[in-house]
Amino acid sequence: MTNNNSKPLQLWSVQDLASENLESVPSRYIRPEIDDKIVVTSAGIEVPVIDLSKLIGHDTHFFMEEFEKLDLACQERGFSRLLNHGIDEEALKKMIEDVPKFFDLPFEEKKQCTGENEGYGQALVFDEEQKLDWGDMLALRTQPDSVRNYKFWPAHPLTFRETTNKYSSEMERIKTILLGLMAKNLGIDSKKLMKMFNGGLQSMRINYYPPCPDPSKVLGISPHSDPTGITLLLQLNEVDGLQIRHDGQWIPIKILPNAIPVNIGDSFEMLTNGRYSSIEHRVVINKEKERLTVATFHQTNGSVPIGPLSELIHKGESAKYNTISYDMFEKLFFSRKLYGKSLLDRLKREN
Ligand code: OGA
Ligand code: NI
Repeated sequence: MTNNNSKPLQLWSVQDLASENLESVPSRYIRPEIDDKIVVTSAGIEVPVIDLSKLIGHDTHFFMEEFEKLDLACQERGFSRLLNHGIDEEALKKMIEDVPKFFDLPFEEKKQCTGENEGYGQALVFDEEQKLDWGDMLALRTQPDSVRNYKFWPAHPLTFRETTNKYSSEMERIKTILLGLMAKNLGIDSKKLMKMFNGGLQSMRINYYPPCPDPSKVLGISPHSDPTGITLLLQLNEVDGLQIRHDGQWIPIKILPNAIPVNIGDSFEMLTNGRYSSIEHRVVINKEKERLTVATFHQTNGSVPIGPLSELIHKGESAKYNTISYDMFEKLFFSRKLYGKSLLDRLKREN
């Protein structure tokens, strides 16, 4: 999302910093809160694996079980992992090849792709005191075509633009499939839900997390929930790092080869009046290995106010969130430093 109130990207490279054979981590990256009471565990917590082929095939026998699993995943975890998702293999392969080539370029060249609130750099840096994330990113607005700002799209590697274009269309296709399934699960008109997302902004946050000599002291991305509707995450080189918050604990989502994590964002939680959950997550860093990911965010279109759908405010219930315009939603996100759950909390209604 971008907005006039947004904070311009800041320009420096953690990748270059990390390549200097640091003896210790600079203090602005050190997170005292990591060692806090929060336990990291995976005991007994499952992030469901959804076999998408069972949901788009014609075999009704397998359909129901998977369909219910998806519903439960969206409700309880807010996260699931898609297997047999049918994303075009060539599109995936090219993305996996081209993204690292961009980050391998010298800083001087990467910085040509820096814009006000798009492109290469550091996002959401508001003041001198704020702790910093151990990572670099390239943020692009990818759909619909009209929002593209090609001057921020890398010219190198030469196939980058074509690759990203193809991958972006594939993400759009998977989003549409998921929306159809979710509408069915929610018992709402799928055409209506599709229409709300039709022409909505798709944006990518392409993340590069260098290794860190002291990984237990830093975070690749601070705890946050995604403000948009549905996020699909490609973990390019299949290095662990994603964790979700559950009952005050951080749960690692282990890499499952070829699986694509999908999660619900704040707007979707609001639309469903809280039936689907936007879960806080963060990224931890590896001591030896770099980690590369592409998060693709899908938002509702700008004409749709963001708030609970009347069909989803069930009898005896009331709206759990205030409904606000799309522009207001963006403004809140950017101008008030509302990152993570604080955005949703602010929009909660006192019933
Ligand atoms: C994000 C995000 C997770 C990851 O970009 O919003 O949560 O593993 N990324 O990179
Ligand atoms: Ni995220």
